[in-house]
Amino acid sequence: MYVDDAILFLTSRVFFMDHIRNFVIIAHIDHGKSTLADRLLERTNTIEVRKMKEQFLDQMDLERERGITIKMAPVRMSYEHEGAHYMMNLIDTPGHSDFGYEVSRALTAVEGAILLVDATQGLQAQTLANYELAKNIVRPGNDSKGLSIIGVVNKIDVAHPDQVDEAVLELAEFIHCSPDDILRVSGKTGEGVDELLRAVITCVPAPSRIVEGDNSSLPRALIFDSLYDDHKGIIAYVRMFQGSLSSGSVAGLVATHSSFSIKEVGSFSPSFVEQPLLSDGEIGYVATGVKDPDTLKIGDTLTLASALSQPDIALPGYREPQPVVFVSFYPEDASQYDELKRALGKLRLTDSSLVFEPDSSEVLGRGFKGGFLGRLHFEITAERLLREFDIETTHSFPSVEYRVKPRKARDGSEEWVTISNPKDFPEEYALVEEPMTCVEILTPMRFLSVVLDLKDSFRFSSIQTTPLGSKICIDAKLPLADIIRDLDDRLKSVSEGFASLSYRVIGMEPADVQKLDVFVAGTLVPGLTRILPKRDIEREARVMVARLKDLLPRVQFSQAIQASMTGRIIARETIPAMRKDVTGYLYGGDRTRKMKLWKKQKKGKARLKERGNEGQVRISAKVFKELLKK
Ligand code: GTP
Repeated sequence: MYVDDAILFLTSRVFFMDHIRNFVIIAHIDHGKSTLADRLLERTNTIEVRKMKEQFLDQMDLERERGITIKMAPVRMSYEHEGAHYMMNLIDTPGHSDFGYEVSRALTAVEGAILLVDATQGLQAQTLANYELAKNIVRPGNDSKGLSIIGVVNKIDVAHPDQVDEAVLELAEFIHCSPDDILRVSGKTGEGVDELLRAVITCVPAPSRIVEGDNSSLPRALIFDSLYDDHKGIIAYVRMFQGSLSSGSVAGLVATHSSFSIKEVGSFSPSFVEQPLLSDGEIGYVATGVKDPDTLKIGDTLTLASALSQPDIALPGYREPQPVVFVSFYPEDASQYDELKRALGKLRLTDSSLVFEPDSSEVLGRGFKGGFLGRLHFEITAERLLREFDIETTHSFPSVEYRVKPRKARDGSEEWVTISNPKDFPEEYALVEEPMTCVEILTPMRFLSVVLDLKDSFRFSSIQTTPLGSKICIDAKLPLADIIRDLDDRLKSVSEGFASLSYRVIGMEPADVQKLDVFVAGTLVPGLTRILPKRDIEREARVMVARLKDLLPRVQFSQAIQASMTGRIIARETIPAMRKDVTGYLYGGDRTRKMKLWKKQKKGKARLKERGNEGQVRISAKVFKELLKK
């Protein structure tokens, strides 16, 4: 079948539920999900060979440049097996732990998962975390937990046969199946892809009705993602759990109790392809025409407007994502505040884990405090604001949320306060608590000691080790603030890229931390304030001022860079003045003429310095980005 025929076939035919398969590919970062998806798209003639490009489902420029998947990507394929045609709805997912919320939403929309492992790497921390998620996911109308899982070892074209065998044994032992059931594929060459498609048909169950009887045809769809289109309004990505929807139907959203007339329904090829109907068990999209981003909530149920008041109409949605990293954003150009607000609203439609609220700073003006699922999530958001909305922002330093009990206030109150912007952290306090995590590090045996040495720089406690296949699993407690610092990079560098980590927040615990302020030319730079463990603060202060000395541009007068803790300067550097040769044009002659010019230059600099101090010191977005890089 050719590509156009395949699309026509999919859009013109009503599939019975037993000929539909909905599945995801999950894996640790870079284990080859998107590349394997390319081969599935080719094999099922979903994309013409001449239009094919690597990691086709990574549609954002940012994804392609960085080589990482940020957004889940659904696509519909058609495959013939034993004379019958199947509709295969695949969702490709991101691998980085910051985008785990995308993975969990995709899992709720499907019945099966391909758990992919890179043969050259074996099991990694995110393999374990994703497997646990897929095994325990609760889906609408399904009392038994979990998805059907197909274990697959990838990159067999580059791995040594012994490595492939080892990865197969490791994965089989981990997911409790026979090594013979683990498939061996290459996303590069396409080897093993047909076997994989057949395994999806035989191992992944077809979708089933969530209710039988009179009510079974009432449409109920779970919204698992969305995006904004200038013409069609908000486009909801849905999984039909019951009944069918078509354009013109008057639909309703349960959470916001709002209604609209459906503009269009269709499927993903992966671009939008209109269809007459979205039926039971299918994955597709609904163009709502709705323009207000607050009307549609991810995890909400889409049904008929006439059914909104029916009891128990809502499908179980998603738990709210818990932001763990907080950063305040301020537009570089203060007049762009409203634009920034609109841009964040639109971003939230494609990134439902983004939360933000207004924030202001005396120096940086009006902005927003954003909550993120990790540091990469924040970096990507700042980058998207610039690329997609042309808004340059300056930020506060990424911080976790602290609970602070201040020294007894004058009114005698001893209320705990929550602080997530470091500039608001008090110089003195009675008690502080910070978020604690359980971290799981998976490392080959040979790197165990260098990985354990990281406890000199990071506050690990309660360390336990357990063998897992050819690797060692290290379980420990660690403050979240240490994870968002640069643990991931340091772990990768000491283990030559072989160790990996995953973590979950377990609650708040007492902390011994202090605020570090930075002054440039005598002026406090609120965006550079950080909260740090007392044991590390002097070292970090020295590193910070040294980096700023390298990064900040020279001006006509010398600038002191000072780091201070509780009013005491603990590190200092000076950026020398930019020198201008004011006497260069003089040829020979009396030295007093040169002296006169130098004196004039000195006076001018002093005047400039004074004026500079009145103004604010803004750290440009570029310098910030460099500072965040380790
Ligand atoms: P994230 O979504 O960011 O987690 O990455 P991913 O799991 O989708 O991995 P991706 O498909 O982007 O592949 C990562 C790298 O591995 C790319 O450089 C691919 O070209 C390479 N790769 C993927 N599959 C294979 C394979 O079977 N063989 C070889 N040799 N390389 C592969």
